[in-house]
Amino acid sequence: MEEKKSFLKQNIDFDSPNKNIVPITTSISSDGKLYVGGCSIEELVKKYDSPLYILDEITLRKSCRAYKKALEKYYPGESLPIYASKANSSIFMSNLVASEGLGLDAVSEGELLTALKGGVPNEKIVFHGNNKSDKEIEFAVRNNINVIVDNDYDLERLEEISNSSNRDLEIMIRFTPGIECHTHEYIRTGSFDSKFGFGIEYLNTLFQRISNTKHLKLNGLHAHIGSQIFELDPHKDLGEIMVSVILDAKKYGHYIKKLNVGGGLGIKYIEDDDPPSIDEWVRTISNSVLKACEKHNLDLPTLLCEPGRSIVSTAGITIYKVGAFKKIPGIRTYLSVDGGMSDNPRPITYQSSYSACLVSNPFNINSKNKFTIAGKHCESGDVLFKEIELANCKTGDLICVFGTGAYNNSMSSNYNRIPRPAALLVCDGEAEIIQKRESPLDLLKYDVLPDRFIKQN
Ligand SMILES: Cc1ncc(COP(=O)(O)O)c(C=O)c1O
Repeated sequence: MEEKKSFLKQNIDFDSPNKNIVPITTSISSDGKLYVGGCSIEELVKKYDSPLYILDEITLRKSCRAYKKALEKYYPGESLPIYASKANSSIFMSNLVASEGLGLDAVSEGELLTALKGGVPNEKIVFHGNNKSDKEIEFAVRNNINVIVDNDYDLERLEEISNSSNRDLEIMIRFTPGIECHTHEYIRTGSFDSKFGFGIEYLNTLFQRISNTKHLKLNGLHAHIGSQIFELDPHKDLGEIMVSVILDAKKYGHYIKKLNVGGGLGIKYIEDDDPPSIDEWVRTISNSVLKACEKHNLDLPTLLCEPGRSIVSTAGITIYKVGAFKKIPGIRTYLSVDGGMSDNPRPITYQSSYSACLVSNPFNINSKNKFTIAGKHCESGDVLFKEIELANCKTGDLICVFGTGAYNNSMSSNYNRIPRPAALLVCDGEAEIIQKRESPLDLLKYDVLPDRFIKQN
């Protein structure tokens, strides 16, 4: 039997999981079945049903450690990687990153609570957002969480809180550095059309404005230039720009102790993707900040970065069961699975591409059939793969989609009243539940039928 070349045959980069399509513990048994974290995927579905999110603990920990190790190697000052929890927020993820010594970035009271419940120390949490509510800001200040000021409205409220409590508050500000990134190209512009952060041209006014407050102490700068970025130059430029802003701030009496360069390192979703390693990314940003500080004779600030996707995406897979087929002669064959846009909205939202295989035939032996993999939702655009080759695929087979750890579960919905999948953690042949499967009844919990409608019926 001829074996087709498969992405599953590529060498694994154990140091930088974002350079692989599959979790680093992925293996194929002698009888040709897919295993991750030492667990048979087929057996997990028998026990936990499908669709199923799975996270591989070893891949997660490797990614966290790669950031820590590279920062220690390349940056002589203080540093801290901060996990961007929007990528995948849960008590488990918060606990795991805390156990690896990382901080956490949150953008809502929900993400803040999740981080605290998971054991992330308050002082290692940063709170972002372009429209924080009063309640959220007060919650963050009360819990000594670092607030990143995104706009004048944030500033006004923090000034009010610090004045009314007669207490100094340390703040960081977010600005748009004029670097616009698409995955494969970037441009530097005078200003940048973004809802987040202060325009770079406004910073001098802002520094003066903060100097005029009684209790606000500006101690940090933040910028984030985009996501799924494969180029290193934008982050090199970012380091230089941020250091130049430290100098501007100094003119207004602000001593910047912390530089947060955001996240954005891409991962390998498909064979053509070739992201830099975590080590290369950290080396680039570290060297850029180091050199610029040396040039201007500045003390080294604490270097913070906020990776999300490159920490959690490659560790995650999603398993679906194949149901109906619809053959349209001369056009395509639709194969429908038991999930779709409610558990993974990225393909319909951003036309994102993934890699996948059959769990019972991962190497795609004897493949000659092309399919369009459709979700089960009432949207024609609910398509996970426009065209994929899968050998002898039939109803009841399992499909594994790789690289789904980030922005899948966290962006999931209950569209069509479809319950969210369970999530498992796998490690050394053991599987543990980290998110229970929702049931259709769970989804009724928050529905209310006003009394007068009950009487009518
Ligand atoms: C402020 C901020 N930090 C960090 C991230 C994480 O980015 P990524 O997942 O690409 O590393 C994002 C993502 O949108 C972000 O907005």
